[in-house]
This record gives sequence, C-alpha cells and structure tokens, in this order.
Amino acid sequence: MSGEAARLFNAAIDAASISALDEVGFFDALKADGRLDLDAYCTAEDLHRPSVEAMLHGLQCFDVVTLADDRGSVVPGAAFDDVFRNKGYFLWIVRGYGRMLENFGTIVRNGARTGDYYERDGAFIARAGKDYGGQFVDADFDAVLAQAAFAKAADLGCGSAGRLIGLLKRDPALRGVGVERNAGAVEVARGLVADAGLSDRLEIVHADVGALEAHPAFADVDLVFSFFMAHDLWPRDKCKVALDNIHAVFPNTARFLLCDTYRSDAPASPDYPIFTLGFEVTHAMMGQYIPNVAEWLDLFRDTNWSVAGQHPIGIAYSCVFDLRRS
Ligand SMILES: C[S@@+](CC[C@H](N)C(=O)[O-])C[C@H]1O[C@@H](n2cnc3c(N)ncnc32)[C@H](O)[C@@H]1O
Repeated sequence: MSGEAARLFNAAIDAASISALDEVGFFDALKADGRLDLDAYCTAEDLHRPSVEAMLHGLQCFDVVTLADDRGSVVPGAAFDDVFRNKGYFLWIVRGYGRMLENFGTIVRNGARTGDYYERDGAFIARAGKDYGGQFVDADFDAVLAQAAFAKAADLGCGSAGRLIGLLKRDPALRGVGVERNAGAVEVARGLVADAGLSDRLEIVHADVGALEAHPAFADVDLVFSFFMAHDLWPRDKCKVALDNIHAVFPNTARFLLCDTYRSDAPASPDYPIFTLGFEVTHAMMGQYIPNVAEWLDLFRDTNWSVAGQHPIGIAYSCVFDLRRS
C-alpha cells in the first residue's frame, strides 16, 4: 500500500510526542484553556519552544491540534478529544516500555534472554494506568462493585493503591488491604495511603500473590479484586494453585472480581484497537504467557471459584470475571 511506511513512521514520531506532551501537562493545559499561546506556555513551563512547536506540527499532521499560521498559538484539532482520552496508553508504551522497545532487536535473540534482560518503568506504568483506568475502567468497575455490599476489600497487585484509596475516601466505613510484590510500588502506595490519612483503615502488604500466606489483615476481607495482574500468575498450573490459595487465605471472601486483559486471537488488521498490540508484543518479549478468554474460563472450572458473571470494560479484550466462592 503506497505511503503506508511513511504513515507508520510518522505515527511512531507522534506517539513519542503525545507521551512527552502528556508528561509535561500540555494536554491538560490545552483542554482547560482551549487555546495556548506558545511563547507564554513554553516560558511558563520552561520548555524548549522549537521542540514543542515541532511536536505540535507533527500532531497537526494527524489533526490532533491546529497551529495558527504564524505558529504562535495552538488550538485542539478534530482528533484532540480522542487522543486526550487515550493519552495514557501513549505514556504507558513510550515511557513505561521505552527501554524495552529500543532493545527489541537484542532481546528477541534467545542468547540475550537471561537474568534481568528487559527494563520497564513502573512509576510511569502506574501513572499511565491511573489515566486510562479513569477513562476506561473505573465507571464499569463501580457498576459491578455496586451489585453487592462489602466492608473490607483486598486489591491483589494494587500498584500505587489508587483504586483502594479512592474507594475508602468515598466511604469512611470501608477498610482495605493492598497486596503488591514490587518494593518500589509498595513504598509509593504506603506513602499515598499516609498522605490520604488512611493508615488506620488501609494496610499495604508486601507479598507475591502467586505464593500468598495467611495474614491477619486478610482474615476479615469480604471482597477481593485484582486489576491487570492475574495474567502474571500463569502458566495454567501455577495460576490454578494461586487462585485456590487465594480462596484459602481469604476465608471470609465470597466474591473475587478478577479484571484483566486477555489474548485477542483476532485476525491481523490495521484496525486493531488501541493498546492490544502493545500489550501482546511486550508480554511476548517478557516471556509472559497471556491466556485467551476460553483458557481463563476453562481454568476457573478447575478451581474453587465459579463464574457468576463476565462484564466488559472500556479496554479492548478485557473484562471483569465475577467469581464466587464455591
Ligand atoms: C499492570 S499493574 C496494575 C496496577 C493496578 N492494579 C492498576 O490497576 O493500576 C500490575 C501490578 O501488579 C503487580 N504484580 C504483578 N505480579 C504480582 C504478583 N505475583 N504479586 C503481587 N503483585 C504483582 C505489579 O508489580 C504491578 O504493580
């Protein structure tokens, strides 16, 4: 197809620009003001004006923004709202996985895949997840959550604990416990819990969900949920042990809301939805198996959990499995 290589190349440049402009707050500023004077904006934010202008010109090629003829100011373009809503995915792939992307050519070689052979930036992955989670997950999850009352929730693979913090802030009677394996994320989560004044109601436990042991904070949990972590528990045999173990260490939990992205198995097409290809390629590079939805359902049949519902969310090939203690 003529021009396709140029389109791909230009899209790669714009992906980096969208991530960078999101990181410095440009999209929020343009959304709030509706028009930005480039000199004033770059001076106020101490940004290199020629770089900002060049990135914006690139974005104008895809109608994300419109620069004035004299390039002195910028307004949203026809694609601005769509990019604004999806900007977290760009930050996720460029900032979260950038180091890995640049090393694809190295880590695709079997000989290079030993030790810590890839790098991700957990802080940016968490920041990006908060953005696209807010846009595409939270409202759907709240609707599922509202179907049954609970008093204490556990979030497995809680990251920065933002979901628990939000829940507990809204309801002063709720209590929670976050479980997280990554030491950096645990530190961030504990800091945010303290900042939110929730330390008396929300505990962060540093542990591997794949090998959980009984903990006093788990005993009275009556709802468990997990977001975008459970694929990490595969392969199948290992995941079955982990799911049955969760059943055992949370003895008073009747409901487990497991939300994750599953393998698409969709035919190749330039119209793939946003996120999916990035998710599948990066996890393949990391050697992490991603089950499809049929494999998840087949696994649940072998565990102590039964599937009471399967709710779509705003992210392609992702859903909340509503699991009940059986
Ligand atoms: C993609 S992030 C999602 C974070 C958060 N749940 C959210 O929705 O924003 C996955 C998180 O799960 C954590 N994680 C992955 N495997 C884990 C395991 N076996 N035990 C505990 N945490 C794990 C990671 O460290 C990371 O913080």
